[in-house]
Amino acid sequence: LNKPSQSLWERYKAIASLPKRNPFSHKGTHGKGLLIGGSYLMPGSIALSARAALRSGAGLATVASPGSAWPSVSSHIPEATAVDAKEVNGMLAGRLDVDFSNFDAIALGMGMGRSNASQEIVRQVMEEADVPVLIDADGLHHLKEFLEVLKNRNRPTILTPHPGEMAGLLGITVPELLARPFERGRRFACSHGVYLVLKGPATIITAPDGTQVVESSGNAGLAKGGSGDVLSGILLALVMQSESISEALCNGCFLHGKTAELLTGERYSQSDLLATDLIEGLSQSFRTFS
Ligand code: APR
Ligand code: MG
Repeated sequence: LNKPSQSLWERYKAIASLPKRNPFSHKGTHGKGLLIGGSYLMPGSIALSARAALRSGAGLATVASPGSAWPSVSSHIPEATAVDAKEVNGMLAGRLDVDFSNFDAIALGMGMGRSNASQEIVRQVMEEADVPVLIDADGLHHLKEFLEVLKNRNRPTILTPHPGEMAGLLGITVPELLARPFERGRRFACSHGVYLVLKGPATIITAPDGTQVVESSGNAGLAKGGSGDVLSGILLALVMQSESISEALCNGCFLHGKTAELLTGERYSQSDLLATDLIEGLSQSFRTFS
């Protein structure tokens, strides 16, 4: 870490800034999140995200997924509500008939699939949603076709790529990215005006002003499909409950990683840990750190 605007996220910072529940709060106080994604053949991702968002304190989670995926999604998270969405071949298609101003933040892309028909929804959200928007996974695949929309948004945009997705956004290879992840990440975040969560064994969180924080908790138990979807849900929830987006992102990565550490030191090992276990383990992290 060689620049003054780079620092490490630490336990005491998380303890000082994780959201505290107000005794007089109601569900609206903690945020209504809209999660857009899932598909007939990939219903699990958005279910994991919605469940993680509610386990991380969100007041309400509403899912926009293809109707053909919804029975499966809702069976894993009965607390979530749904909005109607058009689909083609089991994937979201066309525009959503949703008033985005009814929500406090949106997370987009998990398990959405890569059908061209879904691209319109990503564009619609970027152009119309006047709330913080987090884009992950297949949402990033669609976004790369029209990155110029990022500049026009006047509310925070958060991108959460793994190195493969980041390399795709930049049009370079993964080794090229990993040779200079700080510099590449900073340039991208500053030029597009976004918060960038570049995931990996050490996650680099860059704000639109170029400030960078490294969050290095977690272990190889997280190297399994689904853990990224859980992170998206945690981040959505914390963004809705925090004054500072940067703090919310650092705390979300911290909770995600620390939960894996706590669980693999006790009941699970790094080999058998599932994303589902991670969600249930969030309770232990919240009791420990907030
Ligand atoms: N140490 C610490 N943290 C780790 C490690 C590790 N060795 N490996 C992974 N993680 C963390 C990352 O920091 C990130 O938060 O686990 C999460 C993994 O996120 P993703 O790579 O997005 O994984 P996920 O989305 O669950 O699964 C892979 O992404 O490439 C797409 O569509 C593809 O379904 C696939 C999905
Ligand atoms: Mg992912």
